[in-house]
Amino acid sequence: MDRIRIVGGNALHGIIPISGAKNAALPLMIASLLTSDTLTLENVPHLADVELLMRILGNHGVDVAVNGRRERQSGSYARTIHFTCRTIVDTTAPYELVSKMRASFWVLGPLLAREGKARVSLPGGCAIGTRPVDLFIDGLSALGANIEIDAGYIDATAPKGGLIGATYTFPKVSVGATHVMMMAASLARGTTIIHNAAREPEVVDLANCLMAMGAKITGAGTATLTIEGVASLHGARHRVLPDRIETGTYAMAVAMTGGDVTLEGTDITLLDTAVEAIRRAGAEVMAVDGGIRVIGHGDAIRPVDIVTEPFPGFPTDLQAQFMGLMTRAQGVAHVTETIFENRFMHVQELARLGAKITLNGQTARIEGVSRLRGAQVMATDLRASVSLVIAGLAAEGETIVNRVYHLDRGFERLEEKLTRCGAIVERISD
Ligand code: UD1
Repeated sequence: MDRIRIVGGNALHGIIPISGAKNAALPLMIASLLTSDTLTLENVPHLADVELLMRILGNHGVDVAVNGRRERQSGSYARTIHFTCRTIVDTTAPYELVSKMRASFWVLGPLLAREGKARVSLPGGCAIGTRPVDLFIDGLSALGANIEIDAGYIDATAPKGGLIGATYTFPKVSVGATHVMMMAASLARGTTIIHNAAREPEVVDLANCLMAMGAKITGAGTATLTIEGVASLHGARHRVLPDRIETGTYAMAVAMTGGDVTLEGTDITLLDTAVEAIRRAGAEVMAVDGGIRVIGHGDAIRPVDIVTEPFPGFPTDLQAQFMGLMTRAQGVAHVTETIFENRFMHVQELARLGAKITLNGQTARIEGVSRLRGAQVMATDLRASVSLVIAGLAAEGETIVNRVYHLDRGFERLEEKLTRCGAIVERISD
């Protein structure tokens, strides 16, 4: 199993190209199930989750054509991929695949909307809380679907003639359930109004792509979506938006190690709240032509309290990284997690590096220390593992991050991007 070896202490200087967003690429790929034409996606990141979803979509009948050579665009290796689903050959998404990645559960929406039925295994994914699926069941039921749970599978059938538009209010904000409702309602008969929809940029990206495919959607980016169903969708070409979580992660790394890095191909407006928190912690973050520049001052990190919230609040996917940054703050910071109930698994690993963190329910109290010391640590989930990398970059001596397959799910060429900026980071393959 691969490990990552880091020798901490170097400031970061240079350019880091930001990849296309994993959390946008996944639902966009799934949208290819909605049409028999080709959906072409540009700027698709090369990640384990993307490769796995290609295999899953292949099972349903999607033909995937990756451009022969990777295009080198402004220092990044973005890929253009063509997805064509002439016919859906299988409406079952099996446990063996769905249990590896929660987002693959979202095929439920398009399969049901296009074929009138779907049998999809209940999901797996990162071990960050119970992550139920009640909102998907309630939402699709509101569109007329009949849903039963049988032997770990969701069996969904649409009424004769297809799903029917309806007004539905989510009792809780869910990114995935919003994606699925938007895809399903695009092919429903009549108009669907969704209240309390997720407002994440990735939801807006999916809405833009669906509209390019012929869907009629208004309100994306607000809490109310209106979707006028159409009889069919057609092919389109769409560019995946930049990864705001990768952007924020590297910005926090620079804030922690010190240095001066330009994050290329990204957009500061995708992460206002996180940028504000990084600035309050003492780093300079500014929009520049084609990206963001971050200047960190290393040792002079100020304590900042944050609370994770649905967009536009502070993203839960940057919580672990921000906690990593706060381990070296000059004072006490509090990090409160409100989205997932079990997303503090990085705490005990950060403690191995010398961090002083105490947990009280959903709030972590971090007492900054003047230095961290390298150690062996274990990656427990995707975002937690990158917080250990960030901390390792600022720690004295050698840090070994074990179980890095989590990192490969969501961070493209992490070692290469950091090494180019002067960090000592290498992958050790056994
Ligand atoms: C997506 C992101 C993930 C991010 C999360 C929150 C992708 C591939 N993943 O995950 O990186 O951390 O948004 O920003 O885009 N919930 C229910 N019932 C449901 C569905 C969700 O109670 O039926 C709860 C969840 O347990 C959680 C909250 O709603 O507490 C938010 O989860 P949700 O927004 O659905 O997360 P994902 O879409 O799975």
